Amino acid sequence: MPPRANHPDVNLNLRVRGLSQSATLSINERSKLLESEGQTIYKLGLGQSPFPVPEPVVKALQASAHEKAYLPVKGLYELREAVAKYHCGRESLDCSASGVLIGPGSKELMFIVQLVYYGELIIPTPSWVSYAPQAAIIGRNIRWVPTCARDQWRLTPAGLDAVCREDPDRPRLLILNYPNNPGGTTYDVEELQAIATVARKYKVVLLSDEIYGELNHAGEHVSVARFYPEGTIISSGLSKWCGAGGWRLGTFTFPKSMFWLLEAMAVVASETFTATSTPIQYAAIRAFQGGPEIGEYLVGSRRVLRLIGQGMAQRLQETGIHMPTPKGAFYLLPDFSAFSKRLHKRGIDTSAQLCERLLQDTGVATLAGTNFGFSPEFLGARLSYVDFDGRQALEAIANTPPTGEDERKFVENIGKALLTAVDLICKWLQKAD
Ligand SMILES: Cc1ncc(COP(=O)(O)O)c(C=O)c1O
Repeated sequence: MPPRANHPDVNLNLRVRGLSQSATLSINERSKLLESEGQTIYKLGLGQSPFPVPEPVVKALQASAHEKAYLPVKGLYELREAVAKYHCGRESLDCSASGVLIGPGSKELMFIVQLVYYGELIIPTPSWVSYAPQAAIIGRNIRWVPTCARDQWRLTPAGLDAVCREDPDRPRLLILNYPNNPGGTTYDVEELQAIATVARKYKVVLLSDEIYGELNHAGEHVSVARFYPEGTIISSGLSKWCGAGGWRLGTFTFPKSMFWLLEAMAVVASETFTATSTPIQYAAIRAFQGGPEIGEYLVGSRRVLRLIGQGMAQRLQETGIHMPTPKGAFYLLPDFSAFSKRLHKRGIDTSAQLCERLLQDTGVATLAGTNFGFSPEFLGARLSYVDFDGRQALEAIANTPPTGEDERKFVENIGKALLTAVDLICKWLQKAD
């Protein structure tokens, strides 16, 4: 018999055993490691806002650094009021401070809602990397709704209906995310209305993940809550439009008809994270209040993202790579299937192999389609376009006239590393063996 080790045995919760660290965080760490070894890495893997936190919000945080008391579990009342006002104002919804829950990032709130709501999770393929692992940790059934390239990988009302029709009374939580990670797409008003109609028909709880709402490139984001107010929770936060991912502040806004879910989440919050960081909550009031300076920051952010995203997409599309043209957020979802024969000859048959070889051969870090729910053989990958100096970009865009030539120069200058990465991808794909 081998001697018994004198440290605790490995006994892991079966739901956690075998899970790996979140894919986005892993690719970031891997990129940093390769960089520290002296390699040039193009970081198209992690989706972090490139822009600085707006100055008035930074000042508000500085002014609240002395705030040290625990706040109420649901959040600071003035912040809840500011969030309710923010959503009411733009969506003409009947939301109030008492319907807002503040958490340490919307990701944590998503985990808690999945924990307390007893029902199946419905998500389209593709979806953001963390929804499904959260459901798996909790032990919820996950139902992936297939989508197709023709629909730009977006949920259709018919796809949702087909899943719900199988068992109309089953309790379900649908997460709809737009502008979308990983697709860079969004929905127009008619499409949202049609999805809302199906959600209402089956009394689905609709979690509308609008964390990129302010980064709709045309500034025309509309919440699906307008069309299904009684069943929609709006998820938002500071991470993307306010450049403050590391501050960790997320918000859920509930209609009165779903306060029971908010209350249950607050119970779990009170036994886990207690309350979100106090100074950050004070600063967030300023962010949600908006105003001209923040408005200008957002107009600049959207323009920068639109120009860089479209510039990259155009080059990829010209090489024969199919992908939706970006409409929001900072992601592209190229489909490399047109090159499958060539890739096969090089021993590449899955998106994981594709991204690994691309990283090794060119230094371009991306995230494989499998991380978003695609089958391993689908040769798609997510590229994020945030590897540029956001502060410099905002300054430059303010001085860029809206002419094709000036905007092209802007992209070539600010998005230089990203365009180089795109060229490397295109050449790598076209390489004959
Ligand atoms: C689609 C989507 N939802 C939610 C989140 C989580 O945001 P946070 O927890 O920072 O609020 C992210 C972050 O990458 C995301 O891309």
